[in-house]
Amino acid sequence: MENTTKSIVLKKLLEAGENYISGGELSRSLNISRNAVWKAVKALEAEGFVIESATAKGYRLGNGDILLPELISGRNAVILSETDSTNNYAKKLAAKGEAAGTVVLAETQIGGKGRLGRKFESPKGSGLYMSMILRPRFDISLSPLITSSAAVAAAEAVEELCGCRVDIKWVNDLYVNGKKICGILTEASLSMEMNSLEYAVVGIGINTASHDFGELASRVTDLESETGVRVNRCELCGRIANRLEYWLDNMESRLHLGEYRRREMLTGHMITASFGGKTITGKAVGIDENANLTVETENNGTLTLTSGEASLIRKI
Ligand code: BTN
Repeated sequence: MENTTKSIVLKKLLEAGENYISGGELSRSLNISRNAVWKAVKALEAEGFVIESATAKGYRLGNGDILLPELISGRNAVILSETDSTNNYAKKLAAKGEAAGTVVLAETQIGGKGRLGRKFESPKGSGLYMSMILRPRFDISLSPLITSSAAVAAAEAVEELCGCRVDIKWVNDLYVNGKKICGILTEASLSMEMNSLEYAVVGIGINTASHDFGELASRVTDLESETGVRVNRCELCGRIANRLEYWLDNMESRLHLGEYRRREMLTGHMITASFGGKTITGKAVGIDENANLTVETENNGTLTLTSGEASLIRKI
């Protein structure tokens, strides 16, 4: 099968959107035989595209979950079948001048990075592994709020597409039914001369399709298993990117913090937290104006945690 025939048929199906396009119309407009159309359809299906066919109507692209730049509407998207880390790839693009708003997605990452030097497992086709390039124009003092905005954006998009409740665990993990479904890693390059952010890359990993998490299964899950919804990763990515841009455009107002606090799951409960080599226990009392976690410790002191890791000991 000629690669070009296949990609032209795909382009036509994409243009038709939810409408059917008949085999006859495809063969006429592309000047190929009906048999060549049929072969192209079969070749696309073999690649994983879901193509619905109906008698007397023709073909249309089904609601599959294929990563294609054309399916992420209105923004520049780079799709990779495999990479070490989409964050690394996006940082290289950003350093070469790639525009803000560009997203990098991969089917799988062989060196997916988590926070605190951990690995982020990224099995092929089972998750949305996306990194978005940002060039924030707001004051550098607001940059610690980028990650909390991304957490809210991702929570909103998942809620819309899956119809489920999403909780945020400080700093930036998303939970459904008490198990983690998403992690976020933000990396940035500072311009020392300008005392500003040259660029930031927000990396978001969401487990979308049901798969075996092995020994992590008691703590980690995926959207399909929890909600029964198999999201389209391109649609999820587009919605997250749009919401993130909205919150970044309104950063001075810190409006997203209301949405963050509403979903934050440690507040009001006894927690243990580790930061800078120390471990403390106390009651999480809230999220402050810089998205830090405020904790009342057992000796009645109040601590403001700016980063690190916290976990629930018991609900109060
Ligand atoms: C965490 O849970 O500690 C953060 C995980 C962040 C994973 C995402 S997947 C896309 C991007 N590329 C990476 O290497 N990491 C982030």
